[in-house]
Amino acid sequence: MFERLREDIQSVFHRDPAARNAFEVLTCYPGMHAIWIHRLSSALWGMGWKWLARLVSNFGRWLTGIEIHPGAKVGRRFFIDHGMGIVIGETAEIGNDVTLYQGVTLGGTSWNKGKRHPTLEDGVVVGAGAKVLGPFTVGAGAKVGSNAVVTKAVPAGATVVGIPGRIIVKSDDEQEAKRKAMAEKLGFDAYGVSEDMPDPVARAIGQLLDHLQAVDGRLEDMCGALKDLGSPYCAKDLPELREEDFACVKGKDESQAS
Ligand SMILES: CC(C)(COP(=O)(O)OP(=O)(O)OC[C@H]1O[C@@H](n2cnc3c(N)ncnc32)[C@H](O)[C@@H]1OP(=O)(O)O)[C@@H](O)C(=O)NCCC(=O)NCCS
Repeated sequence: MFERLREDIQSVFHRDPAARNAFEVLTCYPGMHAIWIHRLSSALWGMGWKWLARLVSNFGRWLTGIEIHPGAKVGRRFFIDHGMGIVIGETAEIGNDVTLYQGVTLGGTSWNKGKRHPTLEDGVVVGAGAKVLGPFTVGAGAKVGSNAVVTKAVPAGATVVGIPGRIIVKSDDEQEAKRKAMAEKLGFDAYGVSEDMPDPVARAIGQLLDHLQAVDGRLEDMCGALKDLGSPYCAKDLPELREEDFACVKGKDESQAS
């Protein structure tokens, strides 16, 4: 229990530069009080004491202005900054190291029973006043801008802003993974083709790999269409690019240079 408490306090220090000492955090952070009360209400909910759980949760709401349904699942090091006006629905699921600011709603868009609230994976940050509505997943490390209204799944690492929410930054990891897959297919070492690489040749290779990937995708689609029309054309395999081919070119270049 004390371990969790220490973790909670540390998570405030990590994410709020205004926090000065542990006593201040323990006494002046309604977000932490709401989380502790939720732990109690969630335990009661799990034991089948549903009404009591709701009562405790409602008490937490009076005290902090933060409403967390006792059925909501919350991970570790959850941090709610300022807190007032937050609503977290019954079937919401929150991973580890998630941060919410004031006025956030993790709500539903239907009155159906069952999963109707979002799942926030580890490290998600939801800005002040944002509404995340529906039973979809906001991927690990994603950011939701203040006042955004998000009604569709958000990929890991992406940033979503506006109404309706639109992605402004696609996850670098996703792009990087695609490039790596393409580079491996070609027999290249993916070394040196990342976005932040200053080498212009490496960047050019990166662009070529992106383009090749797009062409590959289109070819796959065309092959699918041809197959549907009964053509055997795409049964032939493409010639493979082997690593030795590149080693050979490299060797030739080196001998020319000497
Ligand atoms: C969404 C957010 C995480 C983006 O941060 P970032 O990755 O540093 O992005 P930038 O600030 O470089 O902004 C990128 C673009 O998105 C726009 N943008 C940023 N936040 C926005 C928002 N909430 N709504 C609409 N557009 C937004 C910027 O104007 C910029 O547009 P441009 O490229 O046309 O100039 C951040 O702006 C945010 O809203 N954080 C929540 C913070 C919060 O709620 N704090 C409360 C403290 S009490």
